[in-house]
Amino acid sequence: MNIQQLIDDIARDVRPYLGQAAPAAYIPALAGEDPQQFAIAVATLDGHCHASGDSDTRFSIQSISKAFMLARVLEVYGDSLWSRVNKEPSGNPFNSLVQLEYEQGIPRNPFINAGALVVSDIALSQLGDCSTALREFLREESGAADIDFDQHIADSEAEHGHRNAALAHFMKSCGNLHNPVDSVLSHYFRACSLRMNVMELARAGLFLANHGRSPVSGEQRLTRSQAKQINAIMLTCGTYDAAGEFAYRVGLPCKSGVGGGILAILPGRMSIAVWSPGLDARGNSLAGLEALDRFTTRSGQSVF
Ligand code: DON
Repeated sequence: MNIQQLIDDIARDVRPYLGQAAPAAYIPALAGEDPQQFAIAVATLDGHCHASGDSDTRFSIQSISKAFMLARVLEVYGDSLWSRVNKEPSGNPFNSLVQLEYEQGIPRNPFINAGALVVSDIALSQLGDCSTALREFLREESGAADIDFDQHIADSEAEHGHRNAALAHFMKSCGNLHNPVDSVLSHYFRACSLRMNVMELARAGLFLANHGRSPVSGEQRLTRSQAKQINAIMLTCGTYDAAGEFAYRVGLPCKSGVGGGILAILPGRMSIAVWSPGLDARGNSLAGLEALDRFTTRSGQSVF
């Protein structure tokens, strides 16, 4: 397979979708992103990285950070995590409040916002300054030592983050957050604000394609079984109430973010990162989904 040719073709073919959808508006600092931007990168386990489009441009990874934070927490806290968050698809939007009260403050899965707040709370207890720990992890795995937070985006989200604050306070009242709500929110917003480009993101995700072993350091970050578990949760919950559509069209574990990025994993082979800021109605990158659909359809590569 000629990966470079394939992704160049995809970058050309998704152009009609650019500008058809708007960037996230509920975080004002994201609303001004140019929706014409698009990038795709593929990092393979044999050490190559191919890219096309605006692949040098960094963007806010937002919820993609949840997959990496989950990996860190599974590494240091293990299966105890699953007494505080479930692993079932929610079928609801990522910021939904309704299910949480019915289910006594135990979030459906670690990728909806409520679940990611619980994961951040555990990370805070286990790692201390967990957003900085996550930044260091991403610097190491991507090889880019200057990856950093975007404090303007974190502050913008904090100022308008009433839904996340509501979720966090409700879970605190149920005893499912152990640290002060403000600390959990602030580390969560900082982690979401990290800026990376598609090549850095694809490289950072490679340990999930490599059965838990970092291709950079050779260190076994997660057990083979834990890497399988994260990929499984990405497939079933990583794109929220569109997880069925993504499984059907893309056929890979994916984690999306409202910055317009999506990370996809082909276990044993490669990781793929796409980015375009325009979002569909369920908060996933419109052109990103189109690109991933074309990648797996044309290459014949997926987990199925
Ligand atoms: O908490 C939020 O709403 C954002 N920081 C992250 C949401 C997100 O990226 C959902 N993904 N598609």
